[in-house]
Amino acid sequence: MLTPVLDRRDRPSLDALPYDLFGAIQTLKQDLNAVILAHYYQDSEIQDIADYIGDSLGLSQQAASTSADVIVFAGVHFMAETAKILNPHKLVLLPDLAAGCSLADSCPPAAFAQFKANHPGHLVISYINCTAEIKAMSDIICTSSNAVRIVQQIPADQPIIFAPDRNLGRYVMEQTGRELLLWQGSCMVHETFSEKKLVQLQIQYPDAEVIAHPECETSVLRHANFIGSTTALLKYSQQSDRQRFIVATEPGIIHQMQKQAPEKHYIPAPPINNCACNECPHMRLNTLEKLYLAMKHRTPEITLSPDIQAAALRPMQRMLEMSI
Ligand code: 13P
Ligand code: SF4
Repeated sequence: MLTPVLDRRDRPSLDALPYDLFGAIQTLKQDLNAVILAHYYQDSEIQDIADYIGDSLGLSQQAASTSADVIVFAGVHFMAETAKILNPHKLVLLPDLAAGCSLADSCPPAAFAQFKANHPGHLVISYINCTAEIKAMSDIICTSSNAVRIVQQIPADQPIIFAPDRNLGRYVMEQTGRELLLWQGSCMVHETFSEKKLVQLQIQYPDAEVIAHPECETSVLRHANFIGSTTALLKYSQQSDRQRFIVATEPGIIHQMQKQAPEKHYIPAPPINNCACNECPHMRLNTLEKLYLAMKHRTPEITLSPDIQAAALRPMQRMLEMSI
């Protein structure tokens, strides 16, 4: 799904909101038998009401195993779509349908079909940050926490297309020593960090460790003491004996870092411009109010054509099997 133009008919009416939003959401959760799954890049208050907060792999595993009737996905469209792929008969709600992803948008299905056709004999491994249509054209899905492990499980003589993130792809190539044919997509948030300002921060805080997400460019990753998925970055910051971290990913994760080790210091890696462009504008479209309204009105919901759903399920299942 390309990031859509807002369709007002998909949006719940802005009726009066309850004074105690947290309490009202808890009540709706019980009434609907719903589970709230949230990514670390969500606003702090959404993280605080979620039943589970995690990275893309953890969220997929939770979606695959939940017994709830309704999944409320506080994340972006491809994540909620993934939950629907895994649960075709459940109601999957996304508080704001316009919460897209620049990385998913950088891989249009028709162009990718042509790319695949131009390179026969390749196995297609796609990063989960892509549309259901791209998943349906893939052999295996991966996330930032299992991409290296999955590529390592593929026979050495098997050519591989890796899509859509060229930065994660390059990182996987370095880690595995494998040649991958990369789709040239990227995340607007993780490509915004300034190497120059990062190095200035390292000089200012020589005791700090740089921790970075593999969606960052090589110019940033080469300064990192640790590279990993959002869950891995969180774990590392808690286990390290250092007291200060420069965090090169979306700063929403710092909420959990502060909650789990409030005595430590977390510095968001600075973007090139003096902007807040290290915050994901798509993730931040969700608000607690929209989450409440989505649950109250049971909309906007994620829908998928049965053909795409079935074709996208196979590579998702392969990923889950290969991640055990
Ligand atoms: P992970 O959740 O796999 O760390 O990926 C981060 C991200 O960019 C999600 O959009
Ligand atoms: Fe997409 Fe990047 Fe936002 Fe993640 S941080 S949802 S990859 S635009």
